[in-house]
Amino acid sequence: MTAAHSSTDSVTIDFDSIKNLTAAETSAVDQLILNELSSDVVLINQIGHYIIGNGGKRLRPMLLLLAAKALGKAGDHHLILAAVIEFIHTATLLHDDVVDESVLRRGKESANAVWGNAASVLVGDYLYSSAFEMMVRTNNMRVMEIMSKTTTAIAEGEVLQLLNCNNPDTTEEKYLEVIARKTAILFSTATRLAAVVSGADSATEEALAIYGQQLGVAFQLIDDALDYKASTEELGKNLGDDLAEGKPTLPLIYAIAHGTTEQAQTIIDAIRHGSRDAFNDVYAIVKATNAIEYTERCAEQAAEKAIAALACLPSSEYKTALEQLARFSVQRQH
Ligand code: IPE
Ligand code: IPE
Ligand code: MG
Ligand code: MG
Repeated sequence: MTAAHSSTDSVTIDFDSIKNLTAAETSAVDQLILNELSSDVVLINQIGHYIIGNGGKRLRPMLLLLAAKALGKAGDHHLILAAVIEFIHTATLLHDDVVDESVLRRGKESANAVWGNAASVLVGDYLYSSAFEMMVRTNNMRVMEIMSKTTTAIAEGEVLQLLNCNNPDTTEEKYLEVIARKTAILFSTATRLAAVVSGADSATEEALAIYGQQLGVAFQLIDDALDYKASTEELGKNLGDDLAEGKPTLPLIYAIAHGTTEQAQTIIDAIRHGSRDAFNDVYAIVKATNAIEYTERCAEQAAEKAIAALACLPSSEYKTALEQLARFSVQRQH
């Protein structure tokens, strides 16, 4: 390591004061979300309110709104799209917890644990469709094109990940391809759409899309590190879910490549069998090989690229907040 300080070096990030910058818009977005959940089908209401009401960082709508404000102002269409993005995110969580067999989400029992897989999948579908219905209200073909490509890519990412499950030969490159699609693209679309709806030029749109993409990569890298090192309480999700699914995430890919033959074999077996039983052994190897540090370094590099992409924006407190959120994505413990 060099002595030079990077722009993602540890500084305390005050998430709440960043949140305050978009407090008014965020409460309008929450209202839009609540209106949209009021279906006369009881179970949709119930599950929708349950998962949305259980919290969540609302990071994606926050990014869209901050990007819009960094470009001037957040208008009605920005608010609609912020709600659309959070709906799509929530739909992916409902589906993801079924696929991952996760029983804890946002510190509470997951919807699939309470209502079962069928209900979660169907209400996830409702949220997807409802998001598209809301999006049409912007009457903007470009927005619809970007959003539909985004949801297709997310589905591809999830299926690609499924194909990699229980495969210890998965490379870092294949892993990065998965996280680019399953997670980063939605962040990228959030910040890109802020530019599109603001009528920004194409260079600004691309810069914001790169910012969102790189922040999203950092965010998922840290998510995959936290699955081994966080506390369940802070995370609001169970540790070890990735190992239980036999997911070859970066901490494991790195530990296989840098551990002893014996250590590598332990991890290979754990990925093949996809079980929580080996968690303690795997965790010890992940620690011994510095695989978490490596994953965090990769996340830092992605966050640096995100911050660099913002150079073309005029200085403002919103731009500063966007920079801080890139750092937060690396430093977060939840
Ligand atoms: C969880 O996203 C899914 C991933 C992409 C890792 P968040 O960590 O943003 O989830 P909430 O909305 O805050 O619960
Ligand atoms: C995030 O992946 C999946 C999507 C956002 C589609 P994870 O499976 O790692 O997310 P968590 O850890 O369950 O939140
Ligand atoms: Mg999951
Ligand atoms: Mg995870």
